[in-house]
Amino acid sequence: MTDTLTPVLTDNWDQDNAWTLAAYEQRGGYEALKQAVRIAPDELITLVKDAGLRGRGGAGFPTGMKWSFIPQDNPKPKYLVVNADESEPGTCKDIPLMMASPHTLIEGVIISSRAIRAEKAFIYVRGEVLHVVRRLRAAVREAYEAGYLGEDILGTGTRLDIVVHAGAGAYICGEETALLDSLEGRRGQPRLRPPFPAVAGLYASPTVINNVESIASVPAIVRGGIEWFGSMGTEKSKGFTIYSLSGHVRRPGQYEAPLGITLRELLELGGGMREGAELKFWTPGGSSTPILTAEHLDVPLDYEGVSAAGSMLGTKALQVFDQTTSVVRAVLRWTEFYKHESCGKCTPCREGTWWMVQILRRLDNGEGQPGDIELLQDLCSNILGRSFCALGDGATSPITSAIEYFRDEFEAGMNTPSSELFPPSASTLF
Ligand code: NAI
Ligand code: SF4
Repeated sequence: MTDTLTPVLTDNWDQDNAWTLAAYEQRGGYEALKQAVRIAPDELITLVKDAGLRGRGGAGFPTGMKWSFIPQDNPKPKYLVVNADESEPGTCKDIPLMMASPHTLIEGVIISSRAIRAEKAFIYVRGEVLHVVRRLRAAVREAYEAGYLGEDILGTGTRLDIVVHAGAGAYICGEETALLDSLEGRRGQPRLRPPFPAVAGLYASPTVINNVESIASVPAIVRGGIEWFGSMGTEKSKGFTIYSLSGHVRRPGQYEAPLGITLRELLELGGGMREGAELKFWTPGGSSTPILTAEHLDVPLDYEGVSAAGSMLGTKALQVFDQTTSVVRAVLRWTEFYKHESCGKCTPCREGTWWMVQILRRLDNGEGQPGDIELLQDLCSNILGRSFCALGDGATSPITSAIEYFRDEFEAGMNTPSSELFPPSASTLF
């Protein structure tokens, strides 16, 4: 049994009323802010840069570097936008974090806004989770009443207002520029980058957009310091992170551990596979990342390790499937999701995801036609790199990787339905 859990963001989740200001302060909450108000904004940026914090939303872009791109000589207002539109299939870390400990995020927002000199911050929350919106709004009210927000934060003369905004439930609004369009009141569709939001973001002003977990990690870095943060993780992927473990495991849930831990170790923490189950395939970072198999159990779950294995760490959503799962059916379900969520702006993704669903349905029904596998691969290669945003690219990942590892199951789809090869039961996931 490994003892590599590193509860930092999750350490108060089991505390009574952990979401209240009183409970948060009881455990040292807002002490980092009291330290941060004595640190110059540029020094805060250097601190986060030197700590090596990388974006926890999926891309792993260095957070401090992103902050340093904000042009401070630009007279326009600067904005901080928190991307709380968590929607990647299998990803369930930000929503529990905001439910259990909204003040960790709010404290992070206040410190991060100080670093980039923003006086207004937005938390853009996925539309379906109104309970999270309510919890965040209640916590923001508490923070105003305590003097952590508003016109004169802790008597320092600096101000910050936070707006908690509920989206309308579109996956594409998690793409940072579509999120900005949505926040501005328009239909959420990706914008051309560059310019990156750091230069021209919300209302064409310099804007930092960070994931919930990235911002929530900032108070701990201020309190613990660079060396402490770097004592966890690997050389290039530093610190702790929350992994979402789901599927055919005994104890699915959120596991906070250092970057670089392996799935084998995480499975131990999660009680192993469910009884009688053998690992067949898994996703390292949700369905937008190429699937991996049992041969990848010892791949270090950091940005470099997972890339070397031919996939991406992404959102660290580890969906684990056993031998009862039809790969074709799983891939069909994910592709139906991408078809539904495609915003329709560009042809490769809008048309391609529709066609991929038609072919996968045929294969799932055992009615595949000769050449269907090659047609799927051809469609994927025409979407990959030719789509306007990452959604199109992501839609191809499960298909191409599943064909690479389980081509025989796609071939079986020429004459045998998946339901015959993998009969659905109460315990199957698709
Ligand atoms: P990206 O690599 O294009 O950009 C990452 C961040 O760095 C962005 O904030 C971007 O503005 C910034 N950036 C990159 N180059 C820059 C430059 N030269 N100047 C200034 N800023 C720069 O990745 P993207 O498209 O933003 O995100 C893709 C990731 O999102 C995927 O890896 C996927 O795992 C993840 N994802 C997460 C979801 C979730 O629910 N959390 C849902 C879907 C995807
Ligand atoms: Fe929209 Fe898909 Fe094109 Fe992205 S890739 S802009 S989601 S149609």
